[in-house]
Amino acid sequence: MSIPWIIKYRPKRIEEVVGNEESKKKFIEWLESWVKGKPTYKATLLYGPAGVGKTSLVEAAARTYGYDLVELNASDQRGESIIKRIVGVAASQGTLMGSMSRRIILLDEVDGMSEEDKGGVKAIVEVLEKTRQPIVLTANDAWDPKLAPLRSVCLMLEFKRLKQWEVVKKLREICLREGIEVDKEALEFIAKRSEGDLRSAINDLQTVSQGRRRITIDDVKWLPYRNRIEPIFDVLSMIFNAKTVATARRALSLIDVDPDMMFEWIYENTPSQLTDPRDLAIAMENLAKADLFRSRVKLLQRWELLSFVTELMTGGVAVAKEATKSKWTPFHFPERIKFLSSIKSEREVMNSIASKIASRCLTSRRTALSDIIPYILFILRSNPDYGVKLLKSYDLTSSEIEFLLGKAGVASIEAPRKRSRST
Ligand SMILES: Nc1ncnc2c1ncn2[C@@H]1O[C@H](COP(=O)(O)OP(=O)(O)O)[C@@H](O)[C@H]1O
Ligand SMILES: [Mg+2]
Repeated sequence: MSIPWIIKYRPKRIEEVVGNEESKKKFIEWLESWVKGKPTYKATLLYGPAGVGKTSLVEAAARTYGYDLVELNASDQRGESIIKRIVGVAASQGTLMGSMSRRIILLDEVDGMSEEDKGGVKAIVEVLEKTRQPIVLTANDAWDPKLAPLRSVCLMLEFKRLKQWEVVKKLREICLREGIEVDKEALEFIAKRSEGDLRSAINDLQTVSQGRRRITIDDVKWLPYRNRIEPIFDVLSMIFNAKTVATARRALSLIDVDPDMMFEWIYENTPSQLTDPRDLAIAMENLAKADLFRSRVKLLQRWELLSFVTELMTGGVAVAKEATKSKWTPFHFPERIKFLSSIKSEREVMNSIASKIASRCLTSRRTALSDIIPYILFILRSNPDYGVKLLKSYDLTSSEIEFLLGKAGVASIEAPRKRSRST
């Protein structure tokens, strides 16, 4: 889980780089012109928005054609002397072992070269004149004035945003390899949101897949709020790793979230973060107290009690962590909040389920809700296979069955089976 999917699924071969077929083809032709010893241009400039596969293409091409890759990227210093020393040497050296040690020189994101890289562009132009190895430059903005001297000496290849179906296709492949079942709607939602940036789409997919074997539209609906959510992850991480009440408490002052909302986040994540039952018991006790004060604040308008709430829900959880071994566990989105934001409210789904059961059992919807559904949840917990069979006989849809499984705390009927087979 810890390895980012954008790295795990980075294309290894050219064929795995999707989209921009025309530019890809020209790029390969250009590389081949080097192999034939008659390069059309000394360098190419691959330009276009982020996350469309410019860097990946160069890396995959190097692998596919057996080139070594010498890479200087945005985090490296790229001033005049460095370019001349590293790039100049790599580019001018003849190959030692004949064709076996050909190399591609990649200067990634040249538009990001800073003031400190003064003279860098001029040095690149000089190196290009003498190079005996193919040089590839990439940039988001090829029309940046400082790149003008490069434009006239490079083969310019534009990379556009990927099409929605191209993004969907790649995401689907990843799901298949990860053993995740995913609804078409959910994939389309992620793809659309990415605006053709496959890197961000893959990151989104990984985020929503945490702890899930099946992804529905409801699981991805909250992604647009992610920018607001990421700071919350930081705060949670500070709270769960704080050694003192004061540090845990201070975490809250970092962002502007409503304490009720923060309470949900902490409450939801405490069981997965504090895996030792002794720690968990103490933390839950403190959260229960915080909750009690919270209701007093609200009901009695006793605002002076608010500091007890914050102290207990932050420090009370932080100091409870004693026996739990430290290991990185992802945070997840509070179920209670997620349901509120999903298209259909929980109550609507529940009512529709209750109506179906009611008509089958010749009773009222109300009785189905109060008497039959709790019993069904019990059956689902003790014998999920049988419970699902029962629900199917009531003509419930698979998403309604999933919903009840969720309610019963059985994540998905498929998941445990798959897992037990593979272990
Ligand atoms: N066209 C593509 N085909 C396959 N994977 C891609 C593509 N574009 C982006 N990716 C994925 O996103 C990650 C980042 O892509 P990258 O090549 O660094 O994009 P760029 O250089 O255009 O910003 C890659 O590691 C890969 O997982
Ligand atoms: Mg790149």
